[in-house]
Formats: sequence, C-alpha cells, structure tokens
Amino acid sequence: VSKKHLFQVIPTKKIAGTIRVASDKSISHRSVIFGSIAEGTTTINNLLDGGDVIATMHAFKEMGVQMSELRDGKLEIVGSGLKGLKSPNHNLDMGNSGTAMRLLAGLLAAQKFDSTLYGDESLTKRPMLRVVKPLSLMGASIETADNGTPPLTIRGNPQLKAISYRLPVASAQVKSAILLAGLYAEGETSIIEDKITRNHTELMLQTFGYPLLIEDNVISITGGNKLIAVDELKIPADISSAAFFMVAACIAEDADILLTDVGINPTRTGVIDILQLMGADISVQNKRYFGAELVADIRIKSSKLRGIDIPEHLVPLAIDEFPVLFVAAACADGETVLRGAEELKVKESDRILTMARGLQNLGVSVFPAADGIRIKGGAGFLGGEVWACQDHRIAMSFSVAALAAKDAVIIHDCANVETSFPNFVELANSIGMNIKEYHD
Ligand code: S3P
Repeated sequence: VSKKHLFQVIPTKKIAGTIRVASDKSISHRSVIFGSIAEGTTTINNLLDGGDVIATMHAFKEMGVQMSELRDGKLEIVGSGLKGLKSPNHNLDMGNSGTAMRLLAGLLAAQKFDSTLYGDESLTKRPMLRVVKPLSLMGASIETADNGTPPLTIRGNPQLKAISYRLPVASAQVKSAILLAGLYAEGETSIIEDKITRNHTELMLQTFGYPLLIEDNVISITGGNKLIAVDELKIPADISSAAFFMVAACIAEDADILLTDVGINPTRTGVIDILQLMGADISVQNKRYFGAELVADIRIKSSKLRGIDIPEHLVPLAIDEFPVLFVAAACADGETVLRGAEELKVKESDRILTMARGLQNLGVSVFPAADGIRIKGGAGFLGGEVWACQDHRIAMSFSVAALAAKDAVIIHDCANVETSFPNFVELANSIGMNIKEYHD
C-alpha cells in the first residue's frame, strides 16, 4: 500500500445523480464468515470487493474453504461446516481490518488447530484485549503483543465453555467474537448489551438457520447446532459509505442526489437522525428488505444546517460516520458538541485527533476532547493540505469537505479508501465532484 497516494479535490457547486454506493462492509464480512462455516453452498450477491473483505476471504481459503473468484460482486462459497476448517499453513493477514481480526479471533479460539492473526501498521496499534478477555473466560488461549495489540497467537481449544458476559464497551465486534465462539462452546452463552450496537451477526445467524434467543438486551446462543447455507444473500449498500454523499449533498450549494439500496438497519441509522436534527433535507423512500436487512433509497438535497448537541444514545448508532459528521458540523451555523465517543480514538486512526488536525488546517475552530469534540461551524473551509493517516473514512470525509472549500484541498495517505469503498472517486466524479488521484 503506497503511502504517497493522494487526492486533489477542486470545489464544485453542483452535484446531482443517482448512485449505488459500495456494499456494506460489516454484512459482507459476516456473509463470508458464515458462508464458510455453513453446510452447503452459499451464493452472495453484491459482496464488497474492498481490501478488508478480501482479507477475510483469503483467511478462509487458507483454512481450506472452497470459493469461486469474486466477479461483479458475486461469490460462491462451499461451506466446510462448523468443524471442517483446516489448519492454515501461514499466519493470517487481516490487513487494515479490525472486524476481520476480532471476529476471527472468536472463531479461531474454538478450533482444533493453532493460528496467528496479524495486520498492517494501523491494525497493529488497535486494542485486542476487549476480545481476548471474554474469550479467555470461555477457556480460550490467545496471546497479544505486550500492550494488548496484534499479532494474536491463538492456541485452538475445541472445548470452550459458555459464559454470561456484560459488554464493557459498546462494540459489535466484541459481541460478534463471543457469538462466534459461542457456536462451539458447551452450554448457553449470553451477552448483555447496555448500549445497542449493530446486530448484523444476530440477523445473519438467523438467516443461516442457527437458533438464537434475543430478549430485550440479552442475546443467547447455545453451541453445537449447525448453520445451513443460503441460496441468495443480497448485500445492501453501506450506510457508512452513503454518509459521505449525504453530507456532500447537504453542504454543496446546489445538490439533489439519490442513493439506492442503502441498508437502514435501525442499529445503523444514527447518521440520518443526527443530520435531520441539524436540519438536513433527507427523505427515506421505498423501504424494503434484502433478506433480514431493511434497505431504502435515500434522497438528499442542499440544506441549511445548524449546530447541535449530539444526543449520546446516537453515538454507537453512528460510530463510523463521525468523521464526515464533523465536516457537516463545520458547515453548520453555530456550535456542534459531541460527547461519549471515546471509541473514536481507537478506530483505523485516532479519529478525534486526525479530524481535528485536518479541520484546523482548513481554518475551522475545533476543540478536541478525550471523548468527543466541539466544532464552531459556519465559516466553511479554506483550501489546504490534510493528512488522512491511512484512514479511509478520514480521506473520504475531507474529499467531501472540499465541496464547501474556498480553494483546492489536497489529502495525503488515501490508499486505504480501497478497503471499504474501492470506486469512491469514480462515483464522486460521476455526480459532479472533481477529485484527481495521484500515486507517486
Ligand atoms: C463493526 C463494528 C464497529 C465499527 C466497525 C465495524 C462491525 O466497531 O466501527 O467499522 O462490523 O462489527 P466496534 O465493534 O469496535 O464498535
């Protein structure tokens, strides 16, 4: 991955058109994971072909799972069953993906073989004890580097025990790692969630026919049943990728865009709620289901935004959208305040710091804090240079900011946009944005 990959974005006034953004990353990972350990052949349509999901696919191929080439988003997986994975010959490369590493840690802890998971420079800084702790309570043996970061060396234990666990951080990755281990554990594993997080794992377990009990905020699973392959899994477009264009349309002078097939699972729609509280003109149309996942088409027009105090209960429901919501806040009249979002510090970059620095470079007054940020909006952006710090969402957020800038914005370290949204530049330019990409 070249660190020298940069975007130069020229401000444009008008954006218009209908686009389908990249497929949902969270759901794509899960469809590959469950397809690989189900019985029978699963066909996936519209799988995200980004680096993160490809890392998950490679890992299962390394463990002997047969799958077709990924072509036009279509992938066929011949599941090996819960007990059919083979010992990998190499250490497994999770690339930039926290989801791949944490979910696979849960699955691999229960296998009859050992494995090692490693990742890139960004992933190697991210906290893994949040999964290691509950998995250890189940009897797993996982070693990390000294500070609780990757690589993970996992000694497989096919005799895990069920636990009851209250999630100390609002994290769907931790919940999912425990559920995956729970598929193999003896007895009933229960997870208590004090804050709602994305429920794609629960929905997909049900889609694959695995019994699951959900009562209020307690999710329980008993080991030893099986997953049955699914004929046609359809992946929605990713609301986290749609968010860039939602904010783009809000802040552009003359905008009217329609985003099709967007997943609007209620555990993911915080970004729509927050933008509507800020006064955005967003309408959600044509609601329907792709399997268990609710989708819709979303229309957004230029809007006069106002600053708000972001309600804390919306934080986990919009966790990946804050970088671009900070861009919206910088364009809104008045002040926007975010609190209770310390998780932003342990994403692909420290998103409070990387956004604060970039916004300051573009002339915005921001006051970062340990668990959030305060942004004085209304003045728009100057042109200038910013650094994405290899974080895909930071790179795309500043591309959007450039729409409301006085001059061109240069964004460094954009290579990882490919991990979640490989055709971002192409789609952005197709609706009237002006992004030039340079690799040197
Ligand atoms: C994800 C969960 C979230 C999110 C990440 C994807 C998932 O992370 O930020 O991009 O697919 O389960 P946390 O579980 O750390 O909150």
